[in-house]
Amino acid sequence: MAKGFPRIQRRLHWWTAVLVAGGFTLGLVMRAVPLRDLLSKFLLFQAHKTVGLMVLGLVILRLALRVRLGRPVPSAGLRRWEPAAASLGQGLLYALLLAVPMLGYLTACTAPARVPTLFLFVIPIPSLIASNSHLYALLRVLHRDAAFALIGLAVGHALAALRHHFAGREVLLRMWRG
Ligand code: HEM
Repeated sequence: MAKGFPRIQRRLHWWTAVLVAGGFTLGLVMRAVPLRDLLSKFLLFQAHKTVGLMVLGLVILRLALRVRLGRPVPSAGLRRWEPAAASLGQGLLYALLLAVPMLGYLTACTAPARVPTLFLFVIPIPSLIASNSHLYALLRVLHRDAAFALIGLAVGHALAALRHHFAGREVLLRMWRG
């Protein structure tokens, strides 16, 4: 079994990281923009939704590749419990990477304002469920809290990789250069 990740999996990993960070920042900024700046708010919402939907696509692709290609053997020098803890963390990360964009999509569908979702600012994404203010109130909180949990877990994941790196283990390098 290989020791490092193939190039396609490494690229998708780093693209996911960049898009999640970008989508999260856009989410906070778009909410902070006042309603009187309607055009900026609208464009920021569309950018946020576009980035979020890209994350969803990338994660589905990553999961398919993971099933097809498997994963490399654990790095040398880890303590016995560390590969199991890493797998648990990665499983949770994947679950949140799927849940956050899906909750975001459902939030957008149920929003009373009925703002269309335009992928890349032009491609309309159909709403699978109708506008519903009660459901929207619940979904937006779930979407926000899941997004914060995702960022918290991703930061923990990055710090763990850095800790291994500075302890001389190849955990980070095999995702960086294979
Ligand atoms: C990884 C992907 C995503 C992340 C990290 C993310 C993160 C966030 C964050 C941080 C907020 C602001 C929450 C607040 O301050 O109340 C937000 C709001 C929102 N997101 Fe996302 N989001 C993602 C994907 C999506 C997707 C795919 C859609 C829709 C297609 C979406 C639709 C929305 C909407 C409509 C709001 C505003 C909710 C409201 O009215 O308050 N998000 N998101």
